[in-house]
Amino acid sequence: MRIVICDTPDKVATYACEYVIKSINDFKPTADRPFVLGLPTGGTPLKTYQKLIIAFREGRVSFKNVVTFNMDEYVGLPQDHPESYHYFMRHNFFDYIDIPEQNRHILNGNAPDLIEECRQYEEKIKAVGGIHLFLAGIGTDGHIAFNEPGSSLYSRTRVKSLNKETIESNARFFDNDPSRVPTMALTVGLRTIMEAQVVMMIATGASKALAVSKCVEGSITHMCTATMLQMHPSAVLCLDDDATLELKVRTARYFKNLLLSEKNLEERQANVKRLSAKL
Ligand code: PGA
Repeated sequence: MRIVICDTPDKVATYACEYVIKSINDFKPTADRPFVLGLPTGGTPLKTYQKLIIAFREGRVSFKNVVTFNMDEYVGLPQDHPESYHYFMRHNFFDYIDIPEQNRHILNGNAPDLIEECRQYEEKIKAVGGIHLFLAGIGTDGHIAFNEPGSSLYSRTRVKSLNKETIESNARFFDNDPSRVPTMALTVGLRTIMEAQVVMMIATGASKALAVSKCVEGSITHMCTATMLQMHPSAVLCLDDDATLELKVRTARYFKNLLLSEKNLEERQANVKRLSAKL
């Protein structure tokens, strides 16, 4: 697990945005060989989406050959409801970039057969060859996507009941009225996420600090499903200072120093390259 600690939420968004841009551009996607990106919704990734839109307008990235799969969607909320994840994605990202309509995938929480909908979603991910980069957030209860405490760490896309903590946390998007928050959702599973080549989780603010500390320092447990990332061969956590408040000082310092030595090494390598080019 690689942990990047930034001073502010804005710097977290910049890091995530640049990471996505570099991943897409290094891959050099084409129509026949698209880059496959997993996407989250919620308050945390909003700034990252805004920065990606700016980068697109500046011509630094194109989403023409990018295929996206969203993590989750509420059950029973109309797609044009302002709190549906279909609406969120259109109004916060898709409407402002060049991604073709047919390249976007979001679970349909109004499908007549929800189990079949989830099965087909897994099939679609498989058909494009899997997800290259999954961008994720973390819930205050440690969930990743809507894999609530007690979820099977071996789960795939399925229907989930939301727990009280998630409903209360998401009430902020529903006029602070928990009774208006849907109680069920469709979500990719832990196994779906674990099969992505890279998972990047972003977390900002003190409200995420406890979940982050469990995710980084705790044991792997289905009661905090983000801990599963400890088993991922290529997981990156990008945190602001507030999200590290419950980490041991020793842990935070360890990862900060690690980044510093990597930066120094990169600078030294760049210097050597510059000097040898002059010879
Ligand atoms: P948030 O949600 O970004 O709105 O805090 C994150 C999550 O629940 O996964």
